[in-house]
Amino acid sequence: MKVLIVGGGGREHAIALSMKKSSRVDKLYCVPGNAGIAQIAECEPSIGVMEFDKVIAYAKEKAVDLVFVAPDDPLVGGLTDALEAEGFRVFGPRKNAAVLEGSKAFAKDLMKKYNIPTASYETFEDPEKALQYLETAKLPIVLKADGLALGKGVLICDTLEEAKAGVKEIMQDKHFGSAGNKMVIEEFMTGREVSVLAFVDGKTVRPMTSAQDHKRAKDGDQGLNTGGMGNFSPSPFYTEEVDDFCRKHIFQPTVDAMAAEGREFKGVIFFGLMLTPEGPKVLEYNARFGDPEAQVVLCRMKNDIMDVIDACIDGTLDRTELQFEDNAAVCVVLASEGYPVAYEKGFEITGLEHFEGKEDYYCFHAGSKFDSAGRIVTNGGRVLGITAKGENLKAARAKAYEAVEWVSFDNKYMRHDIGKAIDEA
Ligand code: AMP
Ligand code: GLY
Repeated sequence: MKVLIVGGGGREHAIALSMKKSSRVDKLYCVPGNAGIAQIAECEPSIGVMEFDKVIAYAKEKAVDLVFVAPDDPLVGGLTDALEAEGFRVFGPRKNAAVLEGSKAFAKDLMKKYNIPTASYETFEDPEKALQYLETAKLPIVLKADGLALGKGVLICDTLEEAKAGVKEIMQDKHFGSAGNKMVIEEFMTGREVSVLAFVDGKTVRPMTSAQDHKRAKDGDQGLNTGGMGNFSPSPFYTEEVDDFCRKHIFQPTVDAMAAEGREFKGVIFFGLMLTPEGPKVLEYNARFGDPEAQVVLCRMKNDIMDVIDACIDGTLDRTELQFEDNAAVCVVLASEGYPVAYEKGFEITGLEHFEGKEDYYCFHAGSKFDSAGRIVTNGGRVLGITAKGENLKAARAKAYEAVEWVSFDNKYMRHDIGKAIDEA
């Protein structure tokens, strides 16, 4: 098979590596890709993920047998539909299903209608009404821009003043663009956060092993929300009991609800969960693999990823069981100093050769490229996802923090407490 992956971050590098292991894949392509993905796939850096016509033309030119659409923007924008209309076999939800991530108001209304546990909420299109509502709301309170906002459109407000400023930021100043045309205001929940990614074929849902993200930029969960500064898998807090509850009250009901709404979901659903004192509740849905969740989950999956992909597309996932290694993985993101706000790019990355031939160590490229002299240089806020597997979480963490020292680039920045929660388990 010839496979095209759409995307160019650490997640896509992890997906590419899983596909590379499959005996069924002869040739991998990736748009735009990055300097790491280029080691295992032919990349076309000039094609952006939102340039649907160019993606389709490239898929035709390479006569690919399958296209895997990985990032949120093209999924929510309908790249799956556009490719299918041209006769391609595609992994990733259609536009009418990707709305599960594309609109938080849609997701909240779905959960309310189908009794899926989540924080109570109200939706607003008029900022005046939102401000009025806040006057009597309980604090802290959570404001969410309705649409996609690079994982940054969520504000947790401790005071009424902050909340009012938040409404202005989201709905009037349009800090997150049109994502803020609508807004969800929801109850603040407390508890541990866990992510569970699941393969879905429209009817059947097969959860993968759990993971836990670190979204804030700085140690001790300080600083701004980012796309993710590191994570680990499995989460020791995602017990069998919690898993039973989630399968019964969250995972299957979500898939059934989407089908009942005529929005059959095929692809990966990312369940962002909070383990509250009243039980697990949904924080958010994503319509795709997480980044860096894919990095710590896929490296532990024993199945041939192509078999699972086929089962999702063909609706035969009920005949597939997922299998994961009985170990753990930790990913520490090496970012550019200043991420997620302002940072410089174009610094040479050295030491990458240390990963060659080392089992259980992975250097997933998130933001890298070749410069005109052919050197690998930084090209994003998140630069590398240094990942290691170990027999347990502590061992994996020690190995990941050993490997972060192997690579160097100017303005290298990381958190030092990825997986610290493991010590409390
Ligand atoms: P989201 O993009 O919806 O996952 O939100 C980003 C982060 O904000 C989450 O990972 C949580 O840490 C936090 N968050 C979102 N919603 C809530 C909530 N209702 N209560 C408490 N924290 C929340
Ligand atoms: N790491 C969180 C996400 O991919 O949305």
